[in-house]
Amino acid sequence: MLRLGVLVSGNGTNLQAILDAIAERALAAEVGLVVSNKPAARALDRARKAGVDTAVVSHRDYASREAFDAALVEAFARANVEWVVLAGFMRLLTRTFLESFPWRVINIHPALLPAFVGVDAQKQALDYGVKIAGATVHLVDQGTDTGPIVAQRAVPVLDDDDVESLRARILKVEHALLVESLGWIAQGRLEILQQGPEARPKVVVRP
Ligand code: GRF
Repeated sequence: MLRLGVLVSGNGTNLQAILDAIAERALAAEVGLVVSNKPAARALDRARKAGVDTAVVSHRDYASREAFDAALVEAFARANVEWVVLAGFMRLLTRTFLESFPWRVINIHPALLPAFVGVDAQKQALDYGVKIAGATVHLVDQGTDTGPIVAQRAVPVLDDDDVESLRARILKVEHALLVESLGWIAQGRLEILQQGPEARPKVVVRP
């Protein structure tokens, strides 16, 4: 069975969607460990409530990003985790982490990438005036929200939207998209295509 590690920093509704899908047997996976870089993250309570192991690894306790990432790797390795989900994890991972889980780190981002990378993607979308927003699940590389795209789903932007209403509409879609993507991983259906040394790696979902 697919054994997941989840990295969180905040509320943890995406983590909750994963835990609920597992509990409902809609997702054939288990969560081996949830790690938060913030001790007060509500996501930790959600994990504990589901009987999942948790750890706090605070970036403030480490002298460098690499040292912090090495501590994360150690925690997930000890928990025998195969894939790592970034579910509202608000830090960038370095090579130290990514090379320990090559193309096995997945992120959910509240925008239709490559538009609106980084923080406050919903506000960026509203400020720009786009009429369609959405969510993207992608594999993580060293850039900010630049890795190969696994799945995307669009939602409309309404004339009277504010950041909160748009955030809520996108979040709903995030939960479904993340669970669906993890289902493909659990079924061994994700494949990375590298068409030439200079080409951007692409993800395909096998039938
Ligand atoms: C989500 O919008 C996610 O896309 C972004 O951070 C937010 C986390 O929400 N990366 P939650 O903690 O899962 O509720």
